[in-house]
Amino acid sequence: MFDQPLPLAGRRALVCGASAGIGRAIAQALAAQGASLVLLARRAGPLQAAAAALREVGAAEVDVIEADLGDEAQVIAAAEAALAGGAVHILIHNSGGPPGGPLLGVSPEALVAVFRQHVISAQLLCQRLVPGMAAAGFGRIVNIVSTSVYEPIPGLGLSNTVRAAMGGWSKSLSRELPPGVTINNILPGFTDTDRLVGLAAARAAAQGTSTEQIRAGWLAEVPEGRLIEPEETAAAVAFLCSPAAGAIRGVSLAVDGGRTRGI
Ligand SMILES: NC(=O)c1ccc[n+]([C@@H]2O[C@H](COP(=O)([O-])OP(=O)(O)OC[C@H]3O[C@@H](n4cnc5c(N)ncnc54)[C@H](OP(=O)(O)O)[C@@H]3O)[C@@H](O)[C@H]2O)c1
Repeated sequence: MFDQPLPLAGRRALVCGASAGIGRAIAQALAAQGASLVLLARRAGPLQAAAAALREVGAAEVDVIEADLGDEAQVIAAAEAALAGGAVHILIHNSGGPPGGPLLGVSPEALVAVFRQHVISAQLLCQRLVPGMAAAGFGRIVNIVSTSVYEPIPGLGLSNTVRAAMGGWSKSLSRELPPGVTINNILPGFTDTDRLVGLAAARAAAQGTSTEQIRAGWLAEVPEGRLIEPEETAAAVAFLCSPAAGAIRGVSLAVDGGRTRGI
């Protein structure tokens, strides 16, 4: 009775931003559910290291694609390269977060660049991958966004702007996708990755305080009282990618230890 095949056996996932942090943990979680993987990031070294680690623990199949989600031509080429290796049933749209700082000083070019990396790359990938998902009768798109979809975060105006756009974009698309193909967002809270280490250092320098004090301030806002582990975020993503989550579409799920205050 319990001798079932793994839920994602035979499925192939393109995981963007897969060489570090949350994306790398997602790749591991999907591999553990039986999916074969295409890992995408800009730098070859960390990407190859992530792929080697997955192969070592017995991942079904692991390919890598070096691409910058902020470059439209590279995104299109990456989608085509992923499809050349076979059907893609799962897309994890994820990359690095925009820089912090006051919004008023941000140039139009910087705004466009952030929209290109986040919203436009998601659009380009979905345009190319959704037809195959529809043909397979199974597709899962999960965007790794931020709790600023609901509540803007002080000092992250550029991020707040593009995250809200991602929320509107994905909710709109969730109404258009065919049966069997879902799209949802995961909103990480303070998660223990390189991104958070960098943010803490930048905030500490700007405020003339220590990274420890910055982190203590953050944790005071988290009822769970600790940083979130990337593996916890990945577990929520793996559920949304599973056949069991087929009726969940168009939601934004915070994995933030209870930090967001809105209902
Ligand atoms: N960690 C947190 O506390 C937290 C909280 C809220 C939201 N988030 C958001 O969650 C996402 C992932 O965060 P993380 O903490 O896992 O970040 P991370 O540790 O910095 O990892 C980012 C990953 O994305 C890749 N990447 C970055 N820019 C890219 C680009 N332009 N094109 C393709 N790949 C790119 C990186 O590899 P390469 O550099 O080699 O490309 C790396 O694999 C980000 O959007 C972040 O803002 C994180």
